[in-house]
Amino acid sequence: MCGIVGYIGNADGVDYVLEGLKELEYRGYDSAGIACINKDQDPFLLKEVGRITNLEKSLKKQKISSSLVIGHTRWATHGKPTKNNSHPHYNNSKTIYVVHNGIIENYLDIKKELIDKGYSFYSETDTEVIPNLIDYYYAKTKDFKKAIKLALGDLRGTYALLIASSLLKDKLYLTRLGSPLVAGFAKDYIVVASDQNVILKHTQKVTYLEDFDLAEISGNKIKIENLKTLKVYDPKIEILDFNLKEDSLNDFPDYMLKEIFDIPETIRLATKGRIDPKKGLVKLGGLDNVMSQLEHIDRIIIVACGTSYYAGMFGEYLIEEISDIPVEVVLASEFKYKKEPISRSTCVIAISQSGETADTIAALEKVKDFGVLKLGIVNVIGSTISRITDAGVYCHAGTEKAVASTKAFVSQVVILTLMSLRLKNVSNKQSKQILKEIENLPSKIEELLSKKNEIKKLSQKYSKYKDFLFIGRGYDYPTALEGALKLKEVSYIHAEGYAAGEMKHGPLAMIDQNFPTVAVIGDEVLYEKTFSNIEEIRARKGPVLLVSSTLNKKTKNMVDDVFYLPKSSNHIGSILAAVFLQLFAYYVSKDLGFNVDRPRNLAKSVTVE
Ligand code: F6R
Repeated sequence: MCGIVGYIGNADGVDYVLEGLKELEYRGYDSAGIACINKDQDPFLLKEVGRITNLEKSLKKQKISSSLVIGHTRWATHGKPTKNNSHPHYNNSKTIYVVHNGIIENYLDIKKELIDKGYSFYSETDTEVIPNLIDYYYAKTKDFKKAIKLALGDLRGTYALLIASSLLKDKLYLTRLGSPLVAGFAKDYIVVASDQNVILKHTQKVTYLEDFDLAEISGNKIKIENLKTLKVYDPKIEILDFNLKEDSLNDFPDYMLKEIFDIPETIRLATKGRIDPKKGLVKLGGLDNVMSQLEHIDRIIIVACGTSYYAGMFGEYLIEEISDIPVEVVLASEFKYKKEPISRSTCVIAISQSGETADTIAALEKVKDFGVLKLGIVNVIGSTISRITDAGVYCHAGTEKAVASTKAFVSQVVILTLMSLRLKNVSNKQSKQILKEIENLPSKIEELLSKKNEIKKLSQKYSKYKDFLFIGRGYDYPTALEGALKLKEVSYIHAEGYAAGEMKHGPLAMIDQNFPTVAVIGDEVLYEKTFSNIEEIRARKGPVLLVSSTLNKKTKNMVDDVFYLPKSSNHIGSILAAVFLQLFAYYVSKDLGFNVDRPRNLAKSVTVE
C-alpha cells in the first residue's frame, strides 16, 4: 500500500528519496511523486502514474536537486490512479506540500467547507483537503506549526503525514495517527519513512513516532510534541540491531517462487535455538517475561487477516489439541465491531506478517484497556504490532516481497506449533514426536519442491477451469481455505475453500464436469472420511485433484489426479499440502501469463481499515 519517504539535510536528497520509494515498491502502488522545497527557487513537484522508473525517467530530464524532499507511492483508495490523484498534494497557492498514508474519513465535509471559503480542488483524493486546511489556518494565525495543529484537530481518520512548505524552507513536519512513521538519524541528514527498511539503508539509529506525535525537524534536530498529552519530548532513539538480508531474486524469475523455495531455510531460522526434540521442549525467549501471566490464561483469542487468519485457524486446532486452552480465531476486521465479554484471563494473539495491518492493529487497540495479555506473532522486526503487544515471537521468515504470502504463512504455523508446546510445557511422547517432525520439516519440503515439474504439469492441466473448490478436514481445512485464497489472488480464478464435511450441506450443488475440486488429505487419520466426500463429488462428475500423504492404490484410480506428499504425521502433512497449493497457484498464474508478484488490486501491507 501507500509508502512515504522524506529527506532533510545539507546535500541532495532526491536520489535517496527515489531509492527509498523503490524499496517500498513491493508493497503495491499505482503512481508515485516527489516534491522538493528549494532555498532559492519555487517548490518543485513531479508525479507519474505507473512504475517509479517513470518518475525516475522524468526526473532525469529535469536535473533537480534539493535538500528537503518528500516522496510517495500511492495505492488508490479515493479516486483512480491518475497524476492528479497521486501525491504529493498541495494547497491552492502551491506553498504547502503533503504526502499522506491512511484515510481522512470526513474529507467530504472539510472539502465542502473549504469550497465555501473559496478554495478549489484538482483531485478526487481525501488528502488534498490537508494542505488547504493548513493554508486556511495559516492565513488566520500566521504560525505554521499552530496551523498544522488546528488542521489535524479537524481531521477524522488515520494518517501518517509529511508536511513541507516554501513558507518555512528549512523545516519538515511529520505526524501520525494509526499509520507508521519512523525517522532515522544518519551522520549529516535525517531520513523519514513509513517503513524502517528504507531507513536501514542509511542508519540503524531510529525513532518511531507514536500516535498524535507532531515532530518538527530542522537541520539535524527533531522536536516532538504529543498533541494528546501535550508533552514535548526528545526523541527516544532506538538502535535497530539487525541488518537487511540480501533479498535479490538470484536465479528465480519471481519473488513468489523464490519465497516458496526459501521455506526450508525459513523454518530452520524460525526454530533455531528454540526447539529440543530429544527433550520434547521449546524455548521462546520472547515469551519468557510473560510466562507467569500465561499460566493463568483460560481463553485465547487470535486476531488476524487473510493468510495470517488461516494460520490462526491452524493455531486454534494446535493450541486446543496440544495445550488444552480454548481458542477463538476472529477476523481482525470483525473483532473490532464484536461486542463480547473479555476477562483479564484472556490472551489476545495478533498474527501478522507485516506487523502493520490496520485491522489487526485496531483489534489490539480495542483490548488496550481490558488488562488482557497481548501477544504478537510477527515477521517484521520493530513493526507496529511488535511494539504495541506485551510480548511475542518473531517469525524470522526474512523479507517477503511477493504480495501473496507464502513463506510467512509456513513460519506462522511453525511458530504456533512451538507456542502450543511452550504453553503446555510438558515433555512427553507427543511433544518429542511433534518436534522431531518440525526438525525434519525443511528436508521434507525440499523433497516436495524437487517435484516442482510434476506440480507445474498438474497446474497447467487445471489452469483452464474458471471455478475451483478446495476441501479438507481438520488441519487440512485451513490449508484448503489458504489454497483457495492463494489461487484467487494470483490467478483471478474463482476458488472457494470448504470443510470437506460441508459439501453436502450446499456446495455440492455447484459440482459438474467444469468445476474441479482440490481435495487435501494431509492427515492420514481423516483419509476415509474425506475420501467419502470425494466420492460424492466424483458421482456428480466433478474432476478431482487429490493432494495426499497417504499412498492408497485402491483410491488412486478413483480420482483424476493425485499428488503424493512426503510421508509425515500429526499436522505436518497439512503444512506440506499448503506448500504444494502455493506452487499450484504459482504455476496456474504463470500459465495464464499474469504478474504473479503483483496481482491486480492488491497491496502487500494493508495499512487502511
Ligand atoms: C494473502 C496475503 C494477505 C495477508 C493479509 C494480512 O496472500 O498476504 O491475505 O495475509 O493482508 O497481512 P499481515 O499478515 O501482514 O497482517
